[in-house]
Amino acid sequence: MQSPPSCLVVLATGGTIAGRAASAQDNVGYRAAELGVDELLQGLDVSRWSGEALEIEAEQLARLDSKDMDHATWERLLARVAQHLARPQVQGIVITHGTDTLEETAWLLQRVLAPARPVVLTAAMRPASSLQADGPQNLADALRVAACPQAAGVLVVMAGRVLAAADARKRHTRRLDAFDAGDAGALAAVEEGRLRRWREWPRGRALGLGHLPKAGAEWPWVEIVTSHAGARADAVDALVAAGVRGLVVAGTGNGTVHQALEAALQRAQAAGVSIRLVSRCAEGPVIAGPDHRWPVYPSLSPAQARVELMLELMAPMPPMVAPSSALPEP
Ligand code: SIN
Repeated sequence: MQSPPSCLVVLATGGTIAGRAASAQDNVGYRAAELGVDELLQGLDVSRWSGEALEIEAEQLARLDSKDMDHATWERLLARVAQHLARPQVQGIVITHGTDTLEETAWLLQRVLAPARPVVLTAAMRPASSLQADGPQNLADALRVAACPQAAGVLVVMAGRVLAAADARKRHTRRLDAFDAGDAGALAAVEEGRLRRWREWPRGRALGLGHLPKAGAEWPWVEIVTSHAGARADAVDALVAAGVRGLVVAGTGNGTVHQALEAALQRAQAAGVSIRLVSRCAEGPVIAGPDHRWPVYPSLSPAQARVELMLELMAPMPPMVAPSSALPEP
């Protein structure tokens, strides 16, 4: 009989959670990604709620301000998470990350790995040096979720809320509860080390690491173009001339596109560029209809849609899984 999982893995990538400022009252003028993973974990005691104490294995995977996240780091992260998930002794994985590109990394991990065990991203809105540092509690909550044997999928834990990767959005530049899950709502809450769950853990079909380009090869170039008042065709024409392979159009409202952009997008498509539509609205799906000239990703943010289109352009794949929030029609 296989022995039960005995450890949690923490992979640190940087971010404000590892940030340090000269003054404890400075929540803006700090440097992200300064503290190492061992410093982040100091004082956290998982045996408080893990019953049979789970050991923590910690690794410093990167030291990035996540605004600078790149495809090479994503490749290393995906490979490392997959290696740990293949170890039966690993109950779950926590990734510390910057908030700025967290929803992209979360979506990429979900699509490529769709883990049957919890892979939990967490972050902070205040640096570790702050009077109001939120990182330690977020990390403790993330470890709590990763330790839950029933949990699955790529999850985001911030400010006591557990969100599915598909739904997680950074909505606020400063608030400690900067993330939410829009109409879908949170999956669960962590309250004083207890998990209160409202919805099913996300499941999906993994594309697998084999879907990615060979090590060192470029990922397909995909850009985001926003439709807005006074939009001009020139930006699209310039991107096509420069060799872009895919364009995500963050359209107005229900994914509508300024007429000045439409003609340029048609030229881009004729030149072989793949085009996908999302909405620039903060919340709500795009309801696809005959007026949409290009395929729609109904519920992804523009940044997540860029990830999705890169994955589409890497290799043939089945249509996108429905976001965790979507239930079958009655
Ligand atoms: C970052 O994304 O690395 C910096 C900002 C943050 O973590 O809140």
